[in-house]
Amino acid sequence: MKHVTVVGSCSVDYVVNTDVVPREGETVFGRTFETFFGGKGANQAVAASRLGAKVSMIGAVGDDQIGQDVLHNLEENGIDTQGMATIANQSTGVAHIIVKDGDNRIIIVPGSNGDLSVAHLEAQTERLLASDVVVFQHEIAADVVEWVVDFCDRHDIPTILNPAPARALSEKTLNQSTYLTPNETEFEVLFPGQDYETVLKMYPNKLIITLGSEGAVFYDGKAMVKVPPFLVRPVDTTGAGDTFNGALAVGIVNGWALKDSVTFGNLASSVAIQKAGAQAGIPTISVLKEHEAYEKTWHIE
Ligand code: RIB
Repeated sequence: MKHVTVVGSCSVDYVVNTDVVPREGETVFGRTFETFFGGKGANQAVAASRLGAKVSMIGAVGDDQIGQDVLHNLEENGIDTQGMATIANQSTGVAHIIVKDGDNRIIIVPGSNGDLSVAHLEAQTERLLASDVVVFQHEIAADVVEWVVDFCDRHDIPTILNPAPARALSEKTLNQSTYLTPNETEFEVLFPGQDYETVLKMYPNKLIITLGSEGAVFYDGKAMVKVPPFLVRPVDTTGAGDTFNGALAVGIVNGWALKDSVTFGNLASSVAIQKAGAQAGIPTISVLKEHEAYEKTWHIE
């Protein structure tokens, strides 16, 4: 079985569903409050695991009860947690999320995610070397991302860098990563003032811009490839991008064409957003195989 390693954040999400988002100084009533497992890294790892890959997670939890619960959740999802650090006297990362009409606003308190260090990654090189693809996001320190991308580049290990939340990237890291998957906001931060077409042509089969309800687009070296979405009515879009990236990783390690891997990402995320909570709706491969689009696109098994 192909091996996906995710280097990144693990958190717990505190989610309020509301009809009204308060303005500054205002108090409003919400409708529901729920707690879910989240963190972009953990969500990507759960997606890749449920969709059939062997997955290892490298990240950091605090020495609190939430940290124990987060590790337990990863293990329950079949993810190897031996590369996880536990940071003494630190709280595990949390996200405060407001959901209104299916869309979200998120405030992250990184806690232990911010303490994941290059020194910890240097002790995980065997795990990285055993990977068929390594996936990252931006909820961990920039120097950790830069170090791992450089390590993977030097050892010919493919990488997927999901630059979320938006943060600028060095030219070196941008060039060293194999796939880069910004959404529209993140694209603006990475390539300020530039248009999609020009930049996509600079990074063929590498830069994949996710466009929400418009699907995704990349340039294959000859033409722009627009990969349409599977349109559904969203209950909660939290984690849609993470599911996309976890599924993309599965497609890539399975050796599928990039367009098919992106389509797989679109399908998985369209299913995921039909349930509340970042991880609750992430489908298993058997659920996806029952989807009519699956049979039409992936003629496997
Ligand atoms: O992408 C969604 C995730 O972002 C949530 O699970 C939350 O933890 C934030 O990190």
